[in-house]
Amino acid sequence: MELMEGLLTRRSVRKFDTSKKISKETFKEIIKAAQYAPSAHNTQPWEFLVIEDPQDLKQFRHIQRSALFAENATAVILVCGNTDKSFSREKEGWSYVDIDCSAATENLLLAAHALGLGACWCGASPMTGPIAGLKEYFKLPENIKPFSIVVLGYPAETPKQPEGRFKEETIHWGKW
Ligand SMILES: Cc1cc2nc3c(=O)[nH]c(=O)nc-3n(C[C@H](O)[C@H](O)[C@H](O)COP(=O)(O)O)c2cc1C
Repeated sequence: MELMEGLLTRRSVRKFDTSKKISKETFKEIIKAAQYAPSAHNTQPWEFLVIEDPQDLKQFRHIQRSALFAENATAVILVCGNTDKSFSREKEGWSYVDIDCSAATENLLLAAHALGLGACWCGASPMTGPIAGLKEYFKLPENIKPFSIVVLGYPAETPKQPEGRFKEETIHWGKW
């Protein structure tokens, strides 16, 4: 798939054909694409938890209500930030960890689309409840912060392409 075409045709998919499994090679390929995302100071502070166990997929309804459709998906990839690796200044109270994981998440979605998978980004960070729930349920180490819940599978729906996404009025040429 050509890059521009992929960027413009990716849509959030929330219904999946669970009879088709995702191969390990495919998981690796989309995670590789995520790892090619830009990151502040090139710290690449991301980690990925691949979740396929149906019992685990059922837990998302308790952890992040609007990710409950994960229970009918093939997999979830939890994109996490490693706070020991990220470019941050504790004293000044800032970190690029979420921003870097955001870039990785978008690459993951685009790679999934390019390989014929459907995916939906469900938010975890910055919501304190889902972060705590994910950390507890998946027993994440202290320095691992869950960032996004990417729900995945081969699509069982074709979402309509939106009209009017391009808004020329949001472009400011040289002055506001
Ligand atoms: C940070 C973030 C959090 C999101 N959280 C959810 C979510 O919890 N549940 C959900 O169904 N979709 C979620 N979405 C997907 C958006 O609803 C979706 O991207 C938006 O409606 C635009 O549709 P599109 O992805 O098809 O272009 C989230 C997207 C982002 C970027």
